[in-house]
Amino acid sequence: MKNYEEIYEYLKERNATHLLKFYDELSAEEQTNLLEQIEIIDFDLMKSLYDNRDVIPDSENKIEPIGFTKFDDISEEDKKRYIALGEEVIKNKKMAVCQLAGGQGSRLGHKGPKGTFIVELDTPKSIFELFAEKLHAVYNKYGVKIQWYVMTSEDNDEETQNFFASHSFFDYGKENITFFKQGELPLLNYNGNPVLASKSKVFKAADGNGGVYEALRKNNILEELEANGVEFLGIGNVDNILIDFFEPTFLGMMVEQNRKVAMKSVTKVSPEEKVGVACKINGKPGVVEYTEISEEMANLRDENGNLVYGESYFGFVVYTTSFLKEIAKGLTYHVAKKKNSYIDEEGNEVIGEEPNTYKFEMFIFEGFSFADDMLVLSVDRKKNFAPIKNKEGQDSPETAIKLYNDFIKG
Ligand code: UD1
Repeated sequence: MKNYEEIYEYLKERNATHLLKFYDELSAEEQTNLLEQIEIIDFDLMKSLYDNRDVIPDSENKIEPIGFTKFDDISEEDKKRYIALGEEVIKNKKMAVCQLAGGQGSRLGHKGPKGTFIVELDTPKSIFELFAEKLHAVYNKYGVKIQWYVMTSEDNDEETQNFFASHSFFDYGKENITFFKQGELPLLNYNGNPVLASKSKVFKAADGNGGVYEALRKNNILEELEANGVEFLGIGNVDNILIDFFEPTFLGMMVEQNRKVAMKSVTKVSPEEKVGVACKINGKPGVVEYTEISEEMANLRDENGNLVYGESYFGFVVYTTSFLKEIAKGLTYHVAKKKNSYIDEEGNEVIGEEPNTYKFEMFIFEGFSFADDMLVLSVDRKKNFAPIKNKEGQDSPETAIKLYNDFIKG
């Protein structure tokens, strides 16, 4: 590791010595830790992200519709075959599942990891516990414990792991659950500088759910999956309490069609719905995020009046383990403006009342483009999608509980 003088010089060239402003006030341990935090910052990358902050990624890309199958159009004969194939995958533990749980959940206003949010069902349960119930159901049906991966972030890893420990790992067995952390990137203020969160801490934030690929690699999980004969990894949003990885038709279809990657979609309820849409981007499978879709694309209809880009990605995708190894580094970063309180270049505390920082994130679906094609299966929203995103209104605990109860109670 470089020493203080070397790091100071390095920062001087980058107009960023403010990160060491309080160095002398810190304990020896904090000093070492701060130098480590600074040393791993890729300033060239941060500069290029800042310089390109107003460029909408993918705006020059060729976007086309992507083919999809409707679940209800699958013939009974095909379904039977798919179910048999899918059940083989589950029974033989050729599949593992991973929850994306590194997000901040700021829209929900819940202090703590989103998975620890208590859903006020007849018997209140946390989101993690509801997921555990699905894994228990698989165990009861097939007699196998599917490995449960939880991607956390630097911010919420400890709290997440403590929550599991204090709930006895939901009786699923500690050894059947693996936690791994995603990466982070510094936040930049509107001057383009990294800033401090406290005197001893550079302000960093999780690098987006697209960080999952690198995190799986770094934490040797891809090797582990291979060594355990796990051929498929299902990855999904933590906040969807109806997520169903073990519906065998979908899995069997993926197997029979020899797909590297497959996603479930639901049909958008309106052009404005805040979901990413499945499509082809420069001939490769992809998703255009709701924050970046043009009004024209969102509203485009075919001759029957259906939305041309009407199938939405809702945070459910299954990959083959070998394909996950092919997804290379270098996904595009997308920028978001966030409200944050931080210590500025002069050492003054800035209170985040308005958006005042840039956060850079990778999106998981950018990884789809490493395949030539993908299976998109349009499924019944009522059985698959009950997201908890906002405190109130759409996609809130209230709407999710209603969807959950309607499904469970038939
Ligand atoms: C996400 C999708 C959107 C989709 C919608 C469905 C992305 C980029 N967008 O939008 O296309 O239609 O869900 O509900 O996936 N997460 C991490 N680490 C991070 C950031 C997020 O693990 O650094 C996790 C979250 O905990 C969550 C999931 O990724 O489980 C989705 O992230 P979120 O920020 O909630 O995305 P949305 O805007 O809801």
